[in-house]
Parts: sequence; structure tokens; C-alpha cells
Amino acid sequence: MKTRQIITRTLTALISVFALISVIMLLSNCGETGSKKAVSEVDSTKDLKDFYEDYFVIGVAVGPNNLEGDQAEMIKKHFNSLTAENVMKPALIHPEENRYAWDNADKIVDFAQANGMKVHGHTLCWHNQTGAWMFQDSQGNQVTKEVALARLKDHITQVVSRYKGKIYVWDVLNEAVEDRDSTKIYRETMWYKICGEEYIRKVFQWAHEADPNAVLVYNDYNTENPGKRDRIYTMLKKLLDEGVPVHVVGLQGHWNINDPTEQNLRDAIEKFSSLGLKIQITELDVSIYTSRADTIDIGFTPEREQKQIDFYKMAFDVFREKKDVITGVTFWNVSDRYSWRDRRNMKCYPLLFDENLKPKKAYWEVVKF
Ligand code: XIL
Repeated sequence: MKTRQIITRTLTALISVFALISVIMLLSNCGETGSKKAVSEVDSTKDLKDFYEDYFVIGVAVGPNNLEGDQAEMIKKHFNSLTAENVMKPALIHPEENRYAWDNADKIVDFAQANGMKVHGHTLCWHNQTGAWMFQDSQGNQVTKEVALARLKDHITQVVSRYKGKIYVWDVLNEAVEDRDSTKIYRETMWYKICGEEYIRKVFQWAHEADPNAVLVYNDYNTENPGKRDRIYTMLKKLLDEGVPVHVVGLQGHWNINDPTEQNLRDAIEKFSSLGLKIQITELDVSIYTSRADTIDIGFTPEREQKQIDFYKMAFDVFREKKDVITGVTFWNVSDRYSWRDRRNMKCYPLLFDENLKPKKAYWEVVKF
């Protein structure tokens, strides 16, 4: 009896000590890295796109100049989708009524095809970077709605048809929603002024007719701002109720180290996807400057660098969690060597690769999961 009691007590004590040690080990592990791997454990044979193979496409916006020299090699290594930063925009690909300029766009499509990459078309209808000729007659007077719509139809049909089967997803309509005024939905662009709401439905229908297999995107910025988000939602719901072929909401993702908040990012993804639409982050960059008023060049300070690391980590944690609805994440430009967000004498350092094309610390946070 006594011996059995001693054995039971010893066993109970041993089990308690073992349990305590396990809990301590678990806690110290979580405190250090959570479920994440240390940087040294990251698989060095993998590049950015490989880490996200089971999640979504990883794209980058380029011009023909990026597809030469060291950048070309680095692009092939890290990305599996290309977007034309400018050369497929209306003003560049269709500079005059009877002239299309395909060369530069073809270069991007050819490079992608030669290297097994996808192509994301950008953009069929926009109020910026569109030739003034689209809206004017030979005397310089504003054209009628019929003429404007006929030109837009020709433009979309020609461009989509040329790359049918080569461009799998198109930003059909860019930035058509009002930014601030809560009494309006649509932005007062030339298209809206001349054609009214009708053009919005039409652009998706024409793109769909030209390539029924293409995935069609509505693309905009400030999509996480609750007011603008809700206006975009209202427009998209209406389009879907009318049976208009729109498949994806493009969150441009021109963000900064403070904005959007994680909550606003989640809310936007959830709200748009509640319509049955997929999401792509189409133009991602994260500036170290938080507003236009931020005009003092402070450089890439350790403090801003850390905030950028934290922001990128937060964003990609959310993207991975939402992988069922997110189908692509595209960076807007290749590296901090050049970003469209740089201002004169003031670099914004918004990307994952530095000026020498080397992965920044933020990169390692994005691939460490
Ligand atoms: C930008 C390009 O990066 C610049 O080179 C150009 O001068 C202006 O346009 N939203 C879009 C993109 O949809 O087409 C814009 O690209 C950035 C904002």
C-alpha cells in the first residue's frame, strides 16, 4: 500500500514537472517567433513567387526597359505575372484614331510568354493617359455620346482581341468612382460627362465579347476608405444585379506605412468578396511617407524601415489568410531603384527590393511564414 502510494506520488510529480516544462517551452517559443520561421530557416532555393505558389500569382509592373540586363533576370526569378506600367494605356497603345502602337505592349507579352509568366492587362478605360482625340472631333469640339461610345468600343475590341488568350485578366475600368462626395457614386470624368452611367456597363460587355475567357477587373485606389469602399460596392452590386460580366475588384494598394489599417483592409476585402467577386492587389507599393504634405526628405531611416517591415508583414498575413478570394498580388515597379511614387529629389522606398535589386528586410518578413 505504502509503496504504491509512493509510486503514484512520484509519477504525479514527474508528470507535473514535465507539463510545466512543456508549457514554459511553448510560451518562450511563441514569444520569440510565434509560428513563424527564423530568417535563417527560410528556404534559400525559393524566390518570392515560389513562396506564394499555393496562394496567389505574384506580379510586377514593368516597361520594356525593365526587361533588359540585371532587372530582367531578377524579374524572371521573383515574379510570375507582368503588368504594363504604361504602354497598354489608351494614350500609348492607341495614340490616334486610326493608329494603334503595339510594339511596346507586344514586347511585354512576348517576354512573359517566353518565360512562362502570365500577363495582366492594364487598362482599357480610364480618364487619365487617354488621347484627347477620343473626346474631340476634327474641329476640337466635344463629341456626342454615340461617337464617344463607338470609339471606346473599337478601342476595347481591338486591344482585347489582339491579346486574346495571351492576357488572362484585364483592368477594364480604372478609377471611375467618386473620391469624397458622398452624394455621388461616379467620378466626373470625361467619359461620365459625355456618356453618363451607360459606359460603365458597356466597357465590361465589350471586353467580354472580345475575349469571353478573360477575367475582368474593376480597379481603383483608396478602396479601403470606408466611404469610397461603399460607393464602389454600390456600383458593383448594381452591375452584378444587371448581369454585367465583372469578376474581380482590383485594390491598387498605393499605400503607406500608416495606411490602411488592418481593420480597413480586412473590411474592404470582406465587403467586396461578399458579392462573390475575387480580389487582386493590382499596384502594391508602401511609401515611407505618410502624406503629400510630408515634404522633408528624411531618407530610409531605421524607424521608417521598421514601420514598413511591420506594414508589409501585416498586409501579407491578411493576404495569405484571405487566399480563397485573393487571386493575385502585383507590385507597382520592380525595386527602389525606380518608383513612380518618388518625387523630385525625394525617394519613397516603397518596394521589397533595394536599389541594387537585393531583398530588403521587409522581403524576409513577407516570405517567412
Ligand atoms: C502611373 C505610372 O506608374 C506612371 O509612370 C505614370 O506617369 C502615371 O501612371 N493608378 C494606376 C496606374 O492605375 O496606371 C498609375 O501608373 C498609378 C496610379
